[in-house]
Amino acid sequence: MADRYLSLTGTAPGRFLTRRLGLPQPVRLRRWSAEQPVLQGELLHLTAGKSELDLAPVLARSGPGSGGDRPVAVVLDATGVRDVDALAEVHAALHPVVRSVAESGRIVVLGAPLDPADHHQAAVQQALEGFVRSLGKEIGRGRTVNLVRLLEAGAAESTLRFLLSPRSAYVSGQVIEVGGHGVSGRGGGGPAGPEDPEKPLAGRTALVTGAARGIGEAVAATLARDGALVVCLDVPAAGGDLTSVAERLGGVALPLDITAEDAGARIADALPGGRLDVLVHNAGITRDRRLVNMAAERWGSVLDVNLASVLRTTDALLSRGALRAGGRVVATASIAGIAGNAGQTNYAASKAGVVGLVRSLAPRALSEYGVTVNAVAPGFIETKMTAAVPLFIREAGRRMNSLAQGGLPVDVAETTAWLASPGAGAVNGQVVRVCGQSLLGA
Ligand code: NAI
Repeated sequence: MADRYLSLTGTAPGRFLTRRLGLPQPVRLRRWSAEQPVLQGELLHLTAGKSELDLAPVLARSGPGSGGDRPVAVVLDATGVRDVDALAEVHAALHPVVRSVAESGRIVVLGAPLDPADHHQAAVQQALEGFVRSLGKEIGRGRTVNLVRLLEAGAAESTLRFLLSPRSAYVSGQVIEVGGHGVSGRGGGGPAGPEDPEKPLAGRTALVTGAARGIGEAVAATLARDGALVVCLDVPAAGGDLTSVAERLGGVALPLDITAEDAGARIADALPGGRLDVLVHNAGITRDRRLVNMAAERWGSVLDVNLASVLRTTDALLSRGALRAGGRVVATASIAGIAGNAGQTNYAASKAGVVGLVRSLAPRALSEYGVTVNAVAPGFIETKMTAAVPLFIREAGRRMNSLAQGGLPVDVAETTAWLASPGAGAVNGQVVRVCGQSLLGA
């Protein structure tokens, strides 16, 4: 269902009227397109405190293209901020420039991991989180603000390329840790040789569950755009839709109920070449009821599809060696799993379970198999599922975030594709919300 309010605020009279009434002012977000794959404009590289990072070469490779008369990307290196005095330099650096950042521009603050031996450093580095989340909420006009905690510059390249690009249009207010897992850069093995920025997944095989429609279809399409051969899995009942998605993407259709006990083995048997580089757990269901009215069947089916099958198939594919070294697992959580949601005890439990799975498995999967494990946590995404939500609740869901609009399936897909890319080897155990900085679970 189209967002008519967003269309209204895209017109001059609509903007005038909604501003006069003090209503939200969403702008149409700048997303990736083949014609304009990167943002165009100035990159400002600012520093607060004494940084030891050599960021210039990384930013030269991951920043926006030139053009435009305003800064479109601002990177503030605050890794060297160790006390409250140095924290004032964060204010001093951003206060004069924040107004000039272009529509749909990006601000990325770089912080350091909290030092358990120095509570002054830990305090001010944690302070950056509150700073970034607040700036994200007030900056408006489609601009995003995120914090990346890092140990060394090289490890952050793919994260910066993503956050400074149109691909991260609906990712704001996030704190992402890179490195610190004993890996950097490409990490975890993978084919040798430089990555093709146009086709980072060339030569790789990806499996997407729930690929017949919605977010899963967008994920499959985005991974195919990035060069992957995509195996599209969905329930046999999705038949025709699944086949047409797979055919359109030059991939393979795999009709299979992911809750089958032997799903892992059947996936492995169906893989072209028998092995896999990217495993995306996207299939998910809701069976909403308040707990007092929730029959055991509703609880069981949601936990089985959204969590138990994710655990089972991941275990089966890892233990069979079906995921190549350099592989990526990306699971789908939800902001409901972070914030909780009335009527969704089953769903939120399953999605919180996904977060637990990711955090626990990530370090072991990397050291034992060379595979990273991360999650995306979508917020309000414009799909058939959310179109069916009653009008008032739908409108609230759309507006209750910093960008004052719902995300699109492609926003989740772009984040998944970044986490799936060979360059993202230093990103492990992270849960990245794709929610426009939703107030839920903020
Ligand atoms: P959707 O209902 O449009 O698509 C889900 C797909 O999964 C369907 O094609 C369905 O047939 C498939 N599926 C369900 N059970 C399956 C099973 N047992 N085996 C194989 N495939 C199965 O859902 P949507 O909106 O695209 O959501 C995708 C994921 O994103 C889900 O995990 C959902 O929980 C999550 N999510 C969605 C949000 C939204 O706003 N749409 C918000 C937060 C999370």
